Amino acid sequence: MAKSLTEDKSKQQAVAVPKGKRSYKIAVMGGDGTGPEVVREGVKVLHALEKSAGLSFEFTDFDLGGARYLKTGETLPETALAELKKFDAIYLGAIGHPDVKPGILEKGVLLRLRFELDQYINLRPVKLYPGVETPIKDKGPEQIDYVVIRENTGGIYTGVGGVNMKNTPQEVAVQSAVYSRFQVDRCLRYAFEYTRARNKRKTLALCGKTNVLTFLFDLWERAFHEMGAKDYSEIRRDYYHVDATCMWMVKNPEWFDVIVTDNMFGDIITDLGAMTQGGMGIAAGGNINPDGVSMFEPIGGSAPKYTGKNVINPLAAICAGGMMLDHLGEREAAQRLENTVVKLLQSGKMKSMSAGKMGMSTSDVGDWIASNI
Ligand code: IPM
Ligand code: MN
Repeated sequence: MAKSLTEDKSKQQAVAVPKGKRSYKIAVMGGDGTGPEVVREGVKVLHALEKSAGLSFEFTDFDLGGARYLKTGETLPETALAELKKFDAIYLGAIGHPDVKPGILEKGVLLRLRFELDQYINLRPVKLYPGVETPIKDKGPEQIDYVVIRENTGGIYTGVGGVNMKNTPQEVAVQSAVYSRFQVDRCLRYAFEYTRARNKRKTLALCGKTNVLTFLFDLWERAFHEMGAKDYSEIRRDYYHVDATCMWMVKNPEWFDVIVTDNMFGDIITDLGAMTQGGMGIAAGGNINPDGVSMFEPIGGSAPKYTGKNVINPLAAICAGGMMLDHLGEREAAQRLENTVVKLLQSGKMKSMSAGKMGMSTSDVGDWIASNI
């Protein structure tokens, strides 16, 4: 964090990967549970695009996650981290193992990658595709189509903390949310630029809690309005408290275009968003470092009880692959991938987004997309 506090790169729009260079080195990290199964289908789809879209991918597997930890005690070895920095992007399945205590793999692998690779944006589209069921009555694809930009390397996830007098009645625990102006500015910069490029409702909403977290979100709110007024006067600025955001995401999702928020609130509201777009089977995300190596993942977990059964929905992973293409500058290929997913969803072949109820197997879904793309 010391480095990022002193260096203002927030205005820099440069990307490390030259856009649209057609040939890419991708690190594949299947990870735990159903992760490898869903990523396999994503890789299948990307391979199908090689022939039809003139792209080429060189995939390299990385064995990280719960199984490796249980065998060797390693989470993310320095050598693997150094290797990963050489790739154009990382394609991740899922990290999380029922036999490993919560926190070890999350902090040791997933969060560590986000922090070490400075993937300071977590991009999570909330988009209901036609033919997908949403639990929100009377809302359809017209109403549910927005993007959450979650700050991904700061806040309570990286703030200082500690515990004292553990396991005594006097135990004290503290874990604080910390943001620097630099971290906030670079996230907001990305969000304004994203809203401008998206060019839909030209509205950026800040989601915070200025009525209680009066220091933290005062910083966010001032930075938000200063930047918006100065450089993005054509973009409308809205503000919602996080609790109200949850309410409106259910009641009036059509109000949203792009939402920008901190790490913790972003984590919470994107699970809600995922449910409104049809569930974890279809929700994809990208951990973005605009100047470095980004990582794409289905946002659902490792779903241990479905492991190896060929019943899990791979669409979230396939869509994450589409986000990866888009990020690499392969807009047309990304669009084709998305169109093919929509075609499958509209065909009525898939009975549900839920594991075991799809009416198709995991590999059937991958095969269908790969052969229709
Ligand atoms: C997510 C996950 C992670 C997070 C966990 C697994 C550490 O919930 O990607 O949203 O909290 O960021
Ligand atoms: Mn989460």
